[in-house]
Amino acid sequence: MRTVYLNGEYMPENEANVSIFDRGFLMADGVYEVTSVLGGKLVDFEGHAVRLQRSLDALEMRNPISKEALLEVHRELVRLNGIDEGMIYLQVTRGAPGDRDFVFPDPETTAPTIVLFTQDKPGLANSPAAQKGMKVISIEDIRWGRRDIKTVQLLYPSMGKMMAKKAGADDAWMIEDGYVTEGTSNNAYIVKGNKIVTRALSNDILHGITRAAVLRFAQEAQMEVEERNFTIEEAKKADEAFITSASTFVMPVVEIDGVAVGEGVPGRVAPRLREIYLEESLKAAI
Ligand code: PDD
Repeated sequence: MRTVYLNGEYMPENEANVSIFDRGFLMADGVYEVTSVLGGKLVDFEGHAVRLQRSLDALEMRNPISKEALLEVHRELVRLNGIDEGMIYLQVTRGAPGDRDFVFPDPETTAPTIVLFTQDKPGLANSPAAQKGMKVISIEDIRWGRRDIKTVQLLYPSMGKMMAKKAGADDAWMIEDGYVTEGTSNNAYIVKGNKIVTRALSNDILHGITRAAVLRFAQEAQMEVEERNFTIEEAKKADEAFITSASTFVMPVVEIDGVAVGEGVPGRVAPRLREIYLEESLKAAI
């Protein structure tokens, strides 16, 4: 059984209870982060901590924990649960006032709820899915307009994964006004020659922590990076396609809406970027 963290205490997962009035439960009024663990260490903890603060600020939600204490909790959970490869899930909600109300509760009397738990994923870095590549379908992006805030409002992304599953694919890329925004839980890229193309940062997509690292590594490896919109038609004709996220690192996409991308197998750029990302992340992990 896992040991989890809830509001300042470590406890067995079956003893961690949250109120039925918690605004995370009633209103999806909460934010989250997923930090990967490689070799028992945290990948890009700093990036996730900074983005957490950004999400909390955007929603005028109080941060219940300092960055130093948060690092300590992450490390303690890794230690207590013996995680070598996997993820740490963190969620902060606006807490549990005594009733349901659309108006935000007074932060002086209602403390935020903070939960962290580990997800053990041995073999995450050597995933067979990365060798094979994944298949995506395209769906309309009907999410709200502040996708840069990492909220727990994940119903549509969850439905998107189900649409993909029903279509025999692994994930969905979402399209708005004719252009790909991102994957249901990852950022989307295409490759043309030596050039990597991905949508520029705005409120339309999540500012991926893995995205920032991968684009930096790509530039350091003399690859060209172009941050601009692309269509699904352009993606189908690209040499390669891939996604990035904390839980998948860099993952090749080999099929879009049933059309093979390139040769229909992982190409040269995405696997190379995955290799560099894993190597550098392991080196910098804390
Ligand atoms: N998802 N875009 C969306 C919509 C996401 O949900 C995520 C992360 C990303 C990639 O961000 P990062 O590189 O910081 O993980 C992009 C996490 C992993 C999840 O929901 O499990």
